[in-house]
This record gives sequence, structure tokens and C-alpha cells, in this order.
Amino acid sequence: MGERQSPIGVIGVGYVGLVSAACFAHLGHSVVCLDVDEERVAALSAGVIPIYEPGLEKLLEDNRERLRFTTSYGDLLSACRVLFVAVDTPPSPSGDADLSRVRQVVGEVAERGGDRILVMKSTVPVGTGGHVLHQLRARGADGVHYVSNPEFLREGAAIQDFLEPDRVVIGATDPEDGDRIEALYRGVDAPVVRTSVPTAEMIKYASNAFLATKISFINEIANVCEGVGADVRTVAEGMGLDHRIGPHFLQAGIGYGGSCFPKDVQALKQLAGNSGYHFQLLNAVIEVNQLQKRRVVAKLKQRLGSLHELRVGLLGLTFKPNTDDLREAASIVLAARLQGEGATVGAYDPMVPAGAHPQFPGVTICGSPEEALRDADAAILVTEWPEFQRLDWAACRELMARPLLVDGRNALDGEALAAAGFEYEGLGTADGPVGGDLESVSSGRPDGAASSAGGRR
Ligand code: UDX
Repeated sequence: MGERQSPIGVIGVGYVGLVSAACFAHLGHSVVCLDVDEERVAALSAGVIPIYEPGLEKLLEDNRERLRFTTSYGDLLSACRVLFVAVDTPPSPSGDADLSRVRQVVGEVAERGGDRILVMKSTVPVGTGGHVLHQLRARGADGVHYVSNPEFLREGAAIQDFLEPDRVVIGATDPEDGDRIEALYRGVDAPVVRTSVPTAEMIKYASNAFLATKISFINEIANVCEGVGADVRTVAEGMGLDHRIGPHFLQAGIGYGGSCFPKDVQALKQLAGNSGYHFQLLNAVIEVNQLQKRRVVAKLKQRLGSLHELRVGLLGLTFKPNTDDLREAASIVLAARLQGEGATVGAYDPMVPAGAHPQFPGVTICGSPEEALRDADAAILVTEWPEFQRLDWAACRELMARPLLVDGRNALDGEALAAAGFEYEGLGTADGPVGGDLESVSSGRPDGAASSAGGRR
């Protein structure tokens, strides 16, 4: 097929598509990117990057002569034989992945037929490859083959994850198709897992579900630590030294968010249910993640009693640092919950402009952390942006009506903050009230009716 000569096609220029396109160009390939969003394509053609991803702008700029953007399938398909699909598969109301955009792509490709390989990078339910092939054959597109090549890109580290991955997974029915796709990764030094299409699809779901399980597990350990005076940070360190466990994804906090984990865990649960299997463990993983956000509110109530007419400052809104992504961010639930308790909420995030924001109705988004903390009765660190570690906390203390700080990511130096006069509390650290009545949260009583048991200090 001569992929070295014919450019690679990438359909969908969101995070995954754009990063993949830039990285393939960096590896020396010519790439044609298609998106149905005309504004986005026009912006990219003019060198304007619509998303924030460290290093992406430079990579696109450095490889500009190998990259082209279009909205025309005719244009894309006349140039490319290998087509990577990187369109959104958001959750549908039933919890299943919404594959309407994938179906649209398949329809466009089927209509034009030809001798091609459709390579699925989007996360799709196990079995999708079979359905797509069926759709293609039903429409007479016999020359279009299918390969599953799931992505494992973390936002904020996506370029590194693409160019230095832990593994490349390629699921193909025809080994020759797999060979062709594997050849495109020449220059990437990583083990390649060659397998069937459904196995490749499952590797993606199982990986994300396992990582989410690790997070919910350590969050539950954190909650138990609070009751017994242990410190989850050292527990995680001690556990992580066991090479069978490993040190990663054992950071306790207010739970996982983002565009992948919540959606993929839900979709895997749904997929199992659709085939008659009740995936018990994933139910717990999801529930723990939901309750973990409410736990932070319960901590405030434990210290302050009612939150009615109190002012709470949120530090960080994105689902994690180094991204501008607010999808499934804990801050959204937290802000709504706090307002539901009658509190006024101010917030600051380095990537969210000051003013009102549709995702945060009623919340004042401030232009600086100091502004968000001014006159606040409590502050919650929601996203561990490095700049919060460098804040002049002594000055912040003076700004606050009450120097109560709940560190939802265990990211700050609790001892230093306590020495600076803060009432500091992490999650699962030894600085909270031991044996406090937070069971209302862990037992699923979302009213969070907690006692006002005093702290140890
Ligand atoms: C994730 C996967 O890592 C990636 O392989 C996949 O393809 C897409 O989903 P991403 O969503 O960008 O990537 O973020 P990640 O860094 O994995 O973090 C996910 C969430 O888990 C964040 O909200 C983060 O704050 C949280 N997290 C992560 C924890 O709470 N504790 C941890 O120890 C690690």
C-alpha cells in the first residue's frame, strides 16, 4: 500500500486526533486531518491550536509542512488509504458509549469505498469492530479493512505518551493490516501487542477501569486511615514499593474525573450488563468516586456546622493540572453541592477565565487565588496546580475570614500551613479529626449529616 508515500488520514481533531496527527508527522509521515467543524479546521490551517496541551503547538509548528487540514471527505480519501478514527464517543443517557460520530465516519468511508484500512483510536465498546465491518460489507465497501489501535494518552502528557508509550496495541483480523499499522510506529520504542480486534478493544477498557479501581481503592483506604489515625500518603508509598502493586495511581484525593475514566468505567459496566454479567466491582468504584466529592463537603460541615451564607473558595477547577479540560471535573459537583448547602462559591483556576462560566452557574470565577480566598470561611484545593504550592499562604490567611483549608489532593505542606495558622485538613492524613463521624458519607447517606466532633488540635 506504500503508506510511507501516501499520507496518513486522521478523522477528528480533538485531543487524541490532533496529538496523534502531530506525532505521526514528527515520526516523518505526511498527515491529512479531517474534521467536520469548519471553524476548527480553518483555525488549525491558520496555525491556531484550539486546545491546550503542553508541547503540542510547537510540535505542530515544527511539522507544519507535513500536516494538512480539511473538512472534505473527498479530499481526505483521495489522498489517504490508512484512516485513523479519533472522534468523540461520549456517554449516552443509557450509559453506553454514543457511537453516532463513529457511524457517521463509517458511512462516509463506506460511500466512497476503495482499498483502505480504518484504524479505530477512539474508545469503542468491545464488539464495535465487528459491527463496523458488518456495516461496511453491507454497503459493499469490501476493500475497507478494520484495525483497533486504542490510545492511552494522558492529557497534559499526551505527546510523551504517544512517542514513548508503555505499549502499542494493535488488534487486526488480517495480520497484513496489523503489519502495516505497526510499520507506522517505526521510531517508537515500545512493546507491540498484536491481537484480535475484540481483545484490543478490551485492553483499553480494562486498563482504564483498573486504573480507576486503583484510585477508588486508595480513596477508601484514605477514608479508613482517617478513622484510625494512619496517613494514606505513607501507606501508598509503602504499598507502591511492592513491585506487584507499583507506585502509580495511588494518590488519594477527591476522585477521578476527565473525559476517559468516568465514561470508560461506566461503559464497561454497561457492556458487561448488556451481555448479562453484573460487574460488581465497577459499581463500587463508581460509587466511591461519587461519594469522595461529597466527603469534602462533609469535612467542611464537620468543622463549620451549617454552610448557610458562608463563603467557600475553590482553588482549581480543571479535572487535573496541565489541562484546560473541565469534563467530569470534581469541581462541578463540588460547586453545586456547596451552593446546595447555602454557601456562596468563589473560584480560581489558571486555565478558566474570570467571570461567569456556564459549567459553574452561580459561581464567581476570580482572576487570582487571592480574590477567590478573600473573606472566605473555608477554602478547598480541588486541582493540584503547581502555582498553589507557591502561593503566599501567610498572606492568604490574612485575607480569609476563617483560615480553614481542605486539601482535596493532599498536595500542600500541611505542617507548614498549620504552623502558618491554618486549620489544615487533607484526605486520609493524620491532621483531620480522628474518628469523626464521616460515615454518613461513606455509607452512602448523601445528606452528609455529620457531627461537629472537635478536631484533635
Ligand atoms: C486517562 C488515562 O490515564 C489514559 O491512559 C487514557 O487513555 C485516558 O484517560 P487522563 O484522563 O488524561 O488519562 O488523566 P489521568 O492523568 O489518567 O488522570 C485521571 C483522573 O484520575 C484525574 O482526575 C486525576 O486527578 C485522577 N487521579 C489520578 C487520582 O485521583 N489519583 C491518582 O493517583 C491518579
